[in-house]
Amino acid sequence: MKQDRLFSIAKESVTDFNFDAAVADVFPDMLRRSIPGYENIITMLGGLARGYAQDNTRVYDLGCSLGAATLSVHRHTRDLSLAHICVDNSAAMIKRCQSKLQRHMPRASVELICDDIQNIQIENASVVLLNFTLQFLPKESRLRLLKTIYNGLLDGGVLILSEKLVFNDNEVNQQFIDWHHEFKRVNGYSDLEISQKRASIENVLIPDSFELHQQRLADAGFSQTLQWFQAFNFSSLIALK
Ligand SMILES: C[S@@+](CC[C@H](N)C(=O)[O-])C[C@H]1O[C@@H](n2cnc3c(N)ncnc32)[C@H](O)[C@@H]1O
Repeated sequence: MKQDRLFSIAKESVTDFNFDAAVADVFPDMLRRSIPGYENIITMLGGLARGYAQDNTRVYDLGCSLGAATLSVHRHTRDLSLAHICVDNSAAMIKRCQSKLQRHMPRASVELICDDIQNIQIENASVVLLNFTLQFLPKESRLRLLKTIYNGLLDGGVLILSEKLVFNDNEVNQQFIDWHHEFKRVNGYSDLEISQKRASIENVLIPDSFELHQQRLADAGFSQTLQWFQAFNFSSLIALK
């Protein structure tokens, strides 16, 4: 796994984060060292999907990056009747995702789409994954996407939604941010790397609170939302149709 050193040298000006080839190249290491619980979420998301994936249906991985979530669903379901639809608007991610999934799940039905997830029709879905992707959409577009997902899910289907969270109480919020930065320090990132990455991503990744997610999922039609994972300010929810 190639080490993420992208923010290790002082930059004159820090530009907005984007999911280009340089990021795709070090992405597994970046995710593992930046998102508390990422590996647990990936593993358990496959385990949870096993309980809801229905034969001859579709599993959508929206904002698939390198396909880690899809691979976990495949490893835990082993259901070759599932059609996996993986979508990302980064060509660099999709290219690497394609070769990874071909290597690790060659017999599965996989369609890779390089497009904005807001342009995708959801049909015949039993599981939809939004693993740390909704937070990159404009806030005003998020409910519309959730409604599209809800409408495309079969009865008994689920959305698994993982996100960075913001907390309504400022002090609590700051505490979680500090703990998250400590998590990154413990994982070998320097203070310079932490502050430059933060400056780069703060206008791109706009987190919502748990309460807002819960309300929005209800507004989209989901009958129940359960928070099944939280580590510091990172969380994963399962929303049931
Ligand atoms: C944090 S990564 C997701 C990680 C991935 N789901 C996983 O489990 O490893 C966010 C991904 O969403 C993609 N993305 C962001 N906004 C998007 C959009 N509007 N349409 C499609 N993909 C998008 C980015 O290119 C990036 O690959």
